[in-house]
Amino acid sequence: MPKRRLAVLVSGRGSNLQAIMNACASGQIPATDVVAVISNRPQAPALALARAAGIPSPCVDHRRFADRSSFDAALRAQIDDFAPDHIALAGFMRQLTPAFAQHYAGRMVNIHPSLLPAFPGLHTHAQALDEGVKLHGATVHFVTADLDAGPIIVQGVVPVLAQDDVDSLAARVLALEHRIYPQALAWLVSGRLRIEQGKVTIDGETASGISPCIWPGTEDL
Ligand code: GRF
Repeated sequence: MPKRRLAVLVSGRGSNLQAIMNACASGQIPATDVVAVISNRPQAPALALARAAGIPSPCVDHRRFADRSSFDAALRAQIDDFAPDHIALAGFMRQLTPAFAQHYAGRMVNIHPSLLPAFPGLHTHAQALDEGVKLHGATVHFVTADLDAGPIIVQGVVPVLAQDDVDSLAARVLALEHRIYPQALAWLVSGRLRIEQGKVTIDGETASGISPCIWPGTEDL
């Protein structure tokens, strides 16, 4: 398989970025190099993780742009400089314009810390606790113009325990994020995913063939 080029967009801590870099280094995400880590925030700790790994890590600071479309144009130019095959949003906290999403349609994925379509947007763990749901989790999905609403690739599920607070629940979900994001990217770079009528298939199978749902303790698919 020819080498695939992956760009990762970040805004903050970078724990999913680290999981992705580790998975590329170990070959779990096969034949793939993280060729750029791009942040919209100059102080994002994720940038330091990228630098430590020797990966180019420019910042396109959204505060320097008058409006969303000029920021998106600059971000797009910066991404395209690295000629990535795929783009992973990993804690990237800017809403993107429809034109931007369209430009990378089928090549850009995101991780969201809830079982979409439940709890799009921010504060997902607090929302889950407020609603009293018994199961919570994370979703990797293709990025479309609609916020947190693109075709779902894989979901990871965790229980919500009676004694949970936001921090304990977030930590349980995050550990699962670090498993499902590399898994989804491995499928993506290997060309195993298709979007058919808004739904994702893996090797042409829907969920009846391979179940893209990871429970704690189960083996990776
Ligand atoms: C994760 O919970 C991710 O699902 C969400 O933002 C958080 C980023 O965390 N989109 P990190 O920067 O990867 O540690």
